[in-house]
Amino acid sequence: MLNIRIERTASPKEKPKKGEKLSFGHIFTDHMFVMNYTEGKGWHDPRIVPFEKISLSPAAMVFHYGQEMFEGLKAYRDDKGNAYLFRPDMNAKRANDSNDRLCIPRIPEEDFVQAVKEVVNVDRDWIPTDPGTSLYIRPFIIATDEFLGVAPSKTYLFIIILSPSGAYYESGLAPVGIWIEDEYVRAVKGGIGFAKTGGNYAASLIAQVKAHDGGFSQVLWLDGVHRKYIEEVGAMNIFFKIKGKILTPMLNGSILPGVTRNSVLQLARHWGMDVEERRISVDELLDAAHDGTLEEVFGTGTAAVVSPVGKLRFKDEIINIGNGGIGEVTQKLYDTITGIQWGKLDDPFGWRVTL
Ligand code: COI
Repeated sequence: MLNIRIERTASPKEKPKKGEKLSFGHIFTDHMFVMNYTEGKGWHDPRIVPFEKISLSPAAMVFHYGQEMFEGLKAYRDDKGNAYLFRPDMNAKRANDSNDRLCIPRIPEEDFVQAVKEVVNVDRDWIPTDPGTSLYIRPFIIATDEFLGVAPSKTYLFIIILSPSGAYYESGLAPVGIWIEDEYVRAVKGGIGFAKTGGNYAASLIAQVKAHDGGFSQVLWLDGVHRKYIEEVGAMNIFFKIKGKILTPMLNGSILPGVTRNSVLQLARHWGMDVEERRISVDELLDAAHDGTLEEVFGTGTAAVVSPVGKLRFKDEIINIGNGGIGEVTQKLYDTITGIQWGKLDDPFGWRVTL
């Protein structure tokens, strides 16, 4: 159990007003959690302090070799003032899977969850309550040694910042267009694709710019070896409904094991739907689109929740999905997951954690 020192801000900022449109990840609350790691001493000096700029040496290793990891989860508030987290234990566990891959020291899972809970509680009044809004929580660890050699750092900072946010996509729950990338790849098995680390996102930018230039919001990656099997969207895992069956690429070491992905799979199975996690080729997807059996496509992610996909582009072909609206299963999953998150629906799996 961490003994967290709390230093409250003397100059609280103005909070977004009820009804004010919130975009994703632009504004930050009054406080942040910070903890240091020093080799030989372990994680130490956990504290909640006013949100402020941090000072690092220009030689800090994170700037040069990208030794860092991050997580993403959300806090929700209902009309009665109750506040909740959604499956924070999953983020704590995944954080350590990323840490292991990146030679960053592990954080005990109960300490990770405690730090998230305490900092959110300090800024509890910042959790927005308008429909579709939440407090996005961004824990991250950076390597801070002042050294230009390539080696694991001996010192780190673990920080948690909080951002009252609305929908990840500007379009809200409206269907997004996805560009299936056939030139660049994101990750390969044995690499860092399953870890939540900046390098994966840096690697995705060039294709994202291409996709945006072509009028699409996001990139759907194919596997790096065969350039054939569907992987993930970068900010989301991807799901298809083909002939009534729910399909998603299996976890193969190069895609992110999303918490929302896992929740969608559990829900769909609980509803008695036919669900498969397996390799899905782009040819299988195109065939389903051509013969009219591709019924729904949606992405899942903490930031994106459950996001309908309205069209896909692969090479010279554009595939419109359904009637361009939100599919029935997509809508039901969105309503159920957000209903559980906001405390409006029963929580048969015990996913909601009350703050
Ligand atoms: C999340 O969904 O929490 C993520 O970290 C994805 C990020 C690209 C916004």
